[in-house]
Amino acid sequence: MTDKTTGTHGAVLKDAPPEGDGPLVELRGAGKSYGNVRALHGVDLTVHAGRVTCVLGDNGAGKSTLIKIISGLHQHTEGEFLVDGAPVRFTSPREALDKGIATVYQDLATVPLMPVWRNFFLGSEMTRGPWPVRRLDIARMKRTADEELRNMGIVLNDLEQPIGTLSGGQRQSVAIARAVYFGARVLILDEPTAALGVKQSGVVLKYIAAARERGLGVIFITHNPHHAYMVGDHFSVLRLGTLELSADRAEVGLEELTNHMAGGAELAALKHELSQVRGVDVEELPEEGDLTAPVAKSPEGTS
Ligand SMILES: Nc1ncnc2c1ncn2[C@@H]1O[C@H](COP(=O)(O)OP(=O)(O)OP(=O)(O)O)[C@@H](O)[C@H]1O
Ligand SMILES: [Mg+2]
Repeated sequence: MTDKTTGTHGAVLKDAPPEGDGPLVELRGAGKSYGNVRALHGVDLTVHAGRVTCVLGDNGAGKSTLIKIISGLHQHTEGEFLVDGAPVRFTSPREALDKGIATVYQDLATVPLMPVWRNFFLGSEMTRGPWPVRRLDIARMKRTADEELRNMGIVLNDLEQPIGTLSGGQRQSVAIARAVYFGARVLILDEPTAALGVKQSGVVLKYIAAARERGLGVIFITHNPHHAYMVGDHFSVLRLGTLELSADRAEVGLEELTNHMAGGAELAALKHELSQVRGVDVEELPEEGDLTAPVAKSPEGTS
């Protein structure tokens, strides 16, 4: 036992975790069947404070199923799920939240026409005065939202602007800052960059790094190995419901990670198919094992 009660990055946690250095969340041989469909099988995963664990995989690989177990939406049907070293079985997202596990979904349950600060406190509004004359403490909510966003390095011109007018990346960032403020220890992000362009994705990646610096354990779900590699400390690749790769950053390079994602054999088959289509120059497609090389435009192929 150590007497360390916060993450190594000085985060102020509302409920200090009982353990110091152990994983915040751990899956041991965890799996989930939906009736006859085995969506997930034998998955090991650990989430540590101040680390970003990336979960990658193609469509249907089981990524959402995995985070639904951790966020309390579904229950695992095999293996173990531990929080702070103790086995748990959540029956609702509320129970996960009470343990400091917050999930930012891609569709972000925000009210587009309400101001940024109002969305920041949605469902957990600050009030003042005793019942029955209790009122919303608007000044304090505005001030706090402003401070918290700044603490994360998020600078918005005007917190009065409707959140719907922010870019997708900014909205994701506000959701991350919100989870941090409300005491999240584990932050789950389900494909936060999927619908974003290059620049906006960069914005979100920056705040993922900021959340890590504040000592949160982050689970970052993505299809994109490049995004994962920019912020990840650990990479778990799912394929057809099982772990095909689980490696720390020191053990895997971007190229290898990309290869695992693309599936070398599948890419070779695709290349073969494409070679039979006129106008596609397969020589310009990346070689297996060289998937990170940019695909050069064929000089003769275009005009
Ligand atoms: N509620 C459900 N009932 C039955 N099968 C399900 C259910 N949810 C998911 N599945 C199945 O489990 C498998 C994994 O799905 P999951 O949604 O976890 O994949 P994913 O990796 O999140 O995919 P995507 O990238 O498309 O979001 C799929 O074969 C899917 O059809
Ligand atoms: Mg999914």
